[in-house]
Amino acid sequence: MITKPTIDRIMEATDIVEVIGEFVQLKKRGANYVGLSPFANERTPSFTVSPAKGIFKDFSSGKGGSAITFLMELEKFTYPEALKWLAKKYGIEIEETEMSAEDKAEDNRRESLMIVSGYAAKFFHESLLETDEGQSIGLSYFRERGFTNDTIKKFELGYSPDQWEAFSGAAIRNGYQEEFLVESGLSVKRDNGTLYDRYRGRVMFPIHSFTGRVIAFGGRTLKTDKAVPKYVNSPESEIYHKSNILYGLYFAKKSIREEDNCYLVEGYADVLSVSQAGIENVVASSGTSLTVEQIKLISRFTKNITILYDGDAAGIKASLRGLDMILEQGLNVKVVSFPDGHDPDSYVRKLGTNAFKKHIEENKKDFILYKTTLLLKDAGNDPIRKAEVIREVVESIAKIPDSIKASVFIKECSSIMQIDERALLSELNKMRLAKAKKDSQQQNNRHHQQQYDDVAPPDELQYLEGFTEQKPKEIDTQEKEIVRLLLLYGNKMIDWDGITNTYIGPFMMVELNDVEFDVPACKQFVEIYRHEVDNGVLPEEQHFIHHPDKDIVDLVVNLLASKYTLSENWYEMHKILVPDEQANMKATILGAIFHLKMHKVGKILEQLRNELQTATSDADQDILLNQYMHMKKVEKSISDYLGSVILK
Ligand code: GTP
Ligand code: MN
Repeated sequence: MITKPTIDRIMEATDIVEVIGEFVQLKKRGANYVGLSPFANERTPSFTVSPAKGIFKDFSSGKGGSAITFLMELEKFTYPEALKWLAKKYGIEIEETEMSAEDKAEDNRRESLMIVSGYAAKFFHESLLETDEGQSIGLSYFRERGFTNDTIKKFELGYSPDQWEAFSGAAIRNGYQEEFLVESGLSVKRDNGTLYDRYRGRVMFPIHSFTGRVIAFGGRTLKTDKAVPKYVNSPESEIYHKSNILYGLYFAKKSIREEDNCYLVEGYADVLSVSQAGIENVVASSGTSLTVEQIKLISRFTKNITILYDGDAAGIKASLRGLDMILEQGLNVKVVSFPDGHDPDSYVRKLGTNAFKKHIEENKKDFILYKTTLLLKDAGNDPIRKAEVIREVVESIAKIPDSIKASVFIKECSSIMQIDERALLSELNKMRLAKAKKDSQQQNNRHHQQQYDDVAPPDELQYLEGFTEQKPKEIDTQEKEIVRLLLLYGNKMIDWDGITNTYIGPFMMVELNDVEFDVPACKQFVEIYRHEVDNGVLPEEQHFIHHPDKDIVDLVVNLLASKYTLSENWYEMHKILVPDEQANMKATILGAIFHLKMHKVGKILEQLRNELQTATSDADQDILLNQYMHMKKVEKSISDYLGSVILK
């Protein structure tokens, strides 16, 4: 955890106008600054920054908060990521608590690797632009491919001299440590202990992290010799994990958010050309097949992916299966293919921006329909192969978490395949049922495991170690946390969105309207609270402390006894970063409410799964399955919410 003094230093240094000004063009108006909302498409500025209060308010999206909130909303940073970004901007050294010596060493190693990589990017970039060899070989190659100076600068493209030790020698002379040169893969160690360069005579594509630091490289050969690998990429390292990096994402994320769509291509060159053509919301998986982590990365910014395929039918078919993963994450997938022999890079250069955009618009097809048509064409009139196609298509549809969306696809596919919609639906339900049963089994196994873990140590042992309290059940803690928050903060005002002050208690009552409490004392407490609020009263601690019901008094007194400490259980369980509870009130309250809701939904799902196991008639199964799918959707939306707004 980042220490409180560090956070204070960051807060002190942070100038909200300066920070937001990096993303939004701001104009001074009176004491405030205004600009166009980065969260919505608008023509008249409704986005306001108040330097005096240190807050922003976006009147078109309703978002508002501090510089940190802004970075979290816009860049989808986590709280620590936002702090680190600010620390870097203001040159503040970060101190972290609870870091073991090992953690610290690892942190330092990671930082050293990033520093070395940043140095290398600069070295290659300068050698491209400022050396004779770089200009005559690297730069002229990029020019030939049509990349402009702006593109070369923006993506920090470079050139590695065709010598054995040009980079390694320079790095050592400049004091970079051998250990990090080798681990980053930039240098390779010979048997005799000396270093040589991994990249020689290649044009260099630095790979940037989510926050814009160079963490790896792809180096392309300029030779046509088939024996030479076309690309040499950095090895996996502590800072570079291929599976959760998308090439170009750092430069694309703003546009992905604005366009609410992400184009996915295969190669570095595709990203550069498409981006240069003004279509900046483009990233590449760079040679590896798409991973779940990469999809999650994209889904922080948009739920829409459009895949721009190279025009090679065999390759397309091979990758179709992998795309189900995207559906499973609840994203919408469209695909666009290009004429044989063309990739997005060559095609955009051939057509120019406008015709290329038109091609995309006219040729984008929904993935499932695309897949259906493609496979069907392949199967011809063979009934067995046709049956396989049906199965495969329904399998994809079954991955879609939103059942309404799924049923729309069933309808469309039934018409493409000329198959009765009901037949497809029953196939779909069979698959979902199988999946629900599998989930239930896994869940049960987990429960057994948990029960086992929860077995309390024998009494004597507890006594010896001074433990008398049993570990509370999660639901217990969650409901008590709600009571605690109501008790301590219910009658306090909160600057909820940076503009309007609201009382916390009534707000929580509204949010908790649909939640049934399980712990009797908590249930009663909330009922009393709600009753008072409905009568226009905000109940104080005293109201409960003097309550006739002993259970209520016990509950309240126990909670108040730890008034000035954070709820440790809560913190332990969810790792919410709460350096200062007041400052993070919003996250604390929403976190408490939504974690509780999540728990309740989990309970309902479990019950539905059990009922599904025993349901015998098809009609019953259909009803249950519908309920199940609906709750799954609710669960997903809560978890998305928790993931995006609240620091878990
Ligand atoms: P150009 O031929 O310059 O247009 O390159 P490209 O970036 O379009 O690459 P291509 O379409 O041939 O390949 C797509 C991606 O796969 C590349 O961007 C690389 O990330 C990766 N790749 C291609 N060839 C190799 C290789 O030989 N080795 C490795 N490790 N990766 C490769
Ligand atoms: Mn290419």
